[in-house]
Amino acid sequence: MSDSQLILFLLPSILSLLLFFILTRRKQARFNLPPGNMGWPFIGETFAYLKHYSATSTGEFMEHHIARFGKIYKSHLFGEPTIVSADAGLNRFILQNEGSLFECSYPRSIGGILGKWSMLVLVGDMHRDMRIISLNFLSHARLRTHLLRDVEKHTLLVLNSWRENFIFSAQDEAKKFTFNLMAKHIMSMDPGKPETEQLKKEYVTFMKGVVSAPLNLPGTAYRKALQSRSIILKFIEQKMKERNGKIKGGVENLEEDDLLGWVLEHSNLSTEQILDLILSLLFAGHETSSVAIALSIYFLQSCPSAVQQLREEHLEIARTKKQSVEKGLNWDDYKKMEFTQCVISETLRLGNVVRFLHRKALKDVRYKGFDIPRGWKVLPVIAAVHLDSSLFDHPQHFNPWRWLQGGTSRGSSSCPSMSSSVNYFMPFGGGPRLCAGSELAKLEMAVFIHHLVLNYQWELADNDQAFAFPFVDFPKGLPIRVVKLHNLI
Ligand code: HEM
Repeated sequence: MSDSQLILFLLPSILSLLLFFILTRRKQARFNLPPGNMGWPFIGETFAYLKHYSATSTGEFMEHHIARFGKIYKSHLFGEPTIVSADAGLNRFILQNEGSLFECSYPRSIGGILGKWSMLVLVGDMHRDMRIISLNFLSHARLRTHLLRDVEKHTLLVLNSWRENFIFSAQDEAKKFTFNLMAKHIMSMDPGKPETEQLKKEYVTFMKGVVSAPLNLPGTAYRKALQSRSIILKFIEQKMKERNGKIKGGVENLEEDDLLGWVLEHSNLSTEQILDLILSLLFAGHETSSVAIALSIYFLQSCPSAVQQLREEHLEIARTKKQSVEKGLNWDDYKKMEFTQCVISETLRLGNVVRFLHRKALKDVRYKGFDIPRGWKVLPVIAAVHLDSSLFDHPQHFNPWRWLQGGTSRGSSSCPSMSSSVNYFMPFGGGPRLCAGSELAKLEMAVFIHHLVLNYQWELADNDQAFAFPFVDFPKGLPIRVVKLHNLI
């Protein structure tokens, strides 16, 4: 091809690109956009935004941008023009107006790996239907009657396997606990069985891909995760076939009182929809709460006074139990764990398991004098609000006492603003997409902490800390060493 032929060939593409930029700029000029930096063409500022940083901070990118542009700024992220919000009021406004002004909008790669029927990517009526099923599975009644008992059983299974003077990964142990619990309640799979272990192995590969760059090339984590996804789906489908066989064969009183059984008997979902629902619940219900448990182990080891107060609270519960015939924890015991709830809230505030959410504007929206144009991506950064010093006193400090009723605090922190800050505390999101498993997550954390403080003292065996990649992870797995406590009760 000669030079002139090449120019002729490229000219239409160059002209359309130019036209696109001119039109976009003209359209943007109509709006009073917040200040900001759109970065490089196409990639924008995505790489800088995703650079890892300490999980107890907002990261250099956010700090720098907030200092320069304020809590609401524009950028270009994940391939789209974006409004980033570290503003507590705007974040709340975005989440409360889901479906009317804003809509959930995760990058396409998430749909590719979690499935197009995953709750994270669904919107509208289909999302509502799937949400009803999840809420039913995770209802308050089921928590009391089924889940509490099993949460305790699976906690003890993990904690009783710990050996003194051995060094092990607290993060892996927390994952083992939450995975076993989910596998049991979703598909009646028992811990330790070869099929459960095989599924867990595939799931680890799958997870690495969910959180990696979405490059579907040979050898990449994303490609391997897609392969694991197919294996996991085949596995779930096999379980479905077995279960359908039992239902058609008229087997009454199926032993399995799990999510799979419920959707097969009570919903009209297609096979593909059931597969994506199960896969995404396994994902949503296992990764997040295990990270939260690991974070609480991490924060508590550096706060002996909190461990002491927890121990007193749980000893009181255990002593009362000793005199009763009922051995396991019941709902009344759980409700007595008041300081534990403060520890849980503080862990979620400081550790920020989910740091930001993906939304897009459905209409042109005006907020505090700024315009958010229709079609733009909107990122409510919930972590930035939880670490905002105008809302939380000494936000980088692990201080569970700040959550005590009436803001009674201890040590250096007094927190007069707590009553209003609580409205901006959104570790589980908010509005119509509020986390369906928030109550289960808190229950898991509380029961785990109960048996942890009653049975063990622990310390870090190696320096490790949580990083936001932006998914939160301990690079060394949070290695700990434990000492068993005897005759405490
Ligand atoms: C500490 C642990 C957890 C945290 C921090 C957390 C956080 C969140 C957040 C922030 C969202 C909202 C996502 C969005 O609006 O885009 C969400 C949604 C969801 N979470 Fe959780 N989650 C946790 C544990 C769980 C557990 C144990 C389950 C149980 C299976 C679960 C199931 C779900 C589901 C089904 C949704 C989708 C809700 C919907 O779209 O209507 N989560 N979670």
